[in-house]
Amino acid sequence: MIRSVVKGTGSALPSRVVSNEELARLVDTSDEWIVERTGIRSRHVAGEGETTATLATQAARNALAAAGVDASAVDLIVLATATPDQTFPATATKVQDALGCNGGIAFDVAAVCSGFLYALGVADSLLRTGMARCALVIGAETFSRILDWEDRATCVLFGDGAGAVLLAAEEVAEGGPGVLTTRLHADGAHNELLFTDGGPSTTGTVGKVRMKGREVFRHAVVNLAEVLQEVLEESGFTAADLDWVVPHQANARILDATARKLGLANEKVIVTVDQHANTSAASVPLALDAAVRDGRIKAGDLVMLEAMGGGFTWGASLLRM
Ligand code: UT7
Repeated sequence: MIRSVVKGTGSALPSRVVSNEELARLVDTSDEWIVERTGIRSRHVAGEGETTATLATQAARNALAAAGVDASAVDLIVLATATPDQTFPATATKVQDALGCNGGIAFDVAAVCSGFLYALGVADSLLRTGMARCALVIGAETFSRILDWEDRATCVLFGDGAGAVLLAAEEVAEGGPGVLTTRLHADGAHNELLFTDGGPSTTGTVGKVRMKGREVFRHAVVNLAEVLQEVLEESGFTAADLDWVVPHQANARILDATARKLGLANEKVIVTVDQHANTSAASVPLALDAAVRDGRIKAGDLVMLEAMGGGFTWGASLLRM
């Protein structure tokens, strides 16, 4: 059978690191509150000249280098972001041009924090149906540019960064590597719990992030546990079979609650929220790359990716590395 096989991962973070203490000088908050309620200790914030496209391009280059594949082989780029460089053209086309692999398919996917899961699902479908052979799936964000830096309820939660995965369509045997099952969901009834208060067609501005955190938290734990169970059942595995879970990094308490609901050991959950905060669509591929590079996630491992975000949107994907 044809499967989308992970050939390499990469990531990129802005050089500027902002601590909780630094934020406590901006808004009425404290390192203690942020760590206790979220697990976040610091985040990276894009500086002058750093954009979603530049971070995405660097992450893509790192994934290509890890795979030992030349950019000219890439015929599909799916880039998940809620913070594109411009309203249009798609940031994916800027990445394509920077890499010099012009001519293939390149587009953005908007599913906010679940964006990487949506991008992975779409890229996997295009690879398995023969529309493309070699895909860069990227999650990249500069949320710092759409935060209200006077709103302590949101500005302490997010960070900037990018992560990328290089996938190739390959003939593999049963039990071999590749994306096994992806399930994606959305429920537009909850738009008003996590949104930007502006947009090209409404205010003609970009808007700032607004969130009713407590309600989002409640939905996140329920939706994530359900979709993880759905993917496990669909693929014929149990939680005990998983080597690793790479969750969306919104809040350490959501990671703990989801692991508990599934009966998963905390040691199997990759956590980067302490250093990266919530990087929206970039958070899953950033965490995946961190764990691949430090040697925890290895070839042959069974890995579950999951995320939940604005919309609401949510999803999970099971892959064999
Ligand atoms: O990525 C997409 C998915 N996003 C998420 O999953 C985020 C989900 N939500 C969360 O992670 C949590 O709900 C938050 C971290 C956003 C908030 O934690 P919480 O425990 O739900 O706190 P809360 O919103 O119920 O607020 C508790 C108190 C409030 O004060 P009062 O009303 O009890 O007096 C807030 O005003 O904490 C206050 N507060 C803060 N205090 C210090 C809110 N933000 C801050 C802050 N520093 N930064």
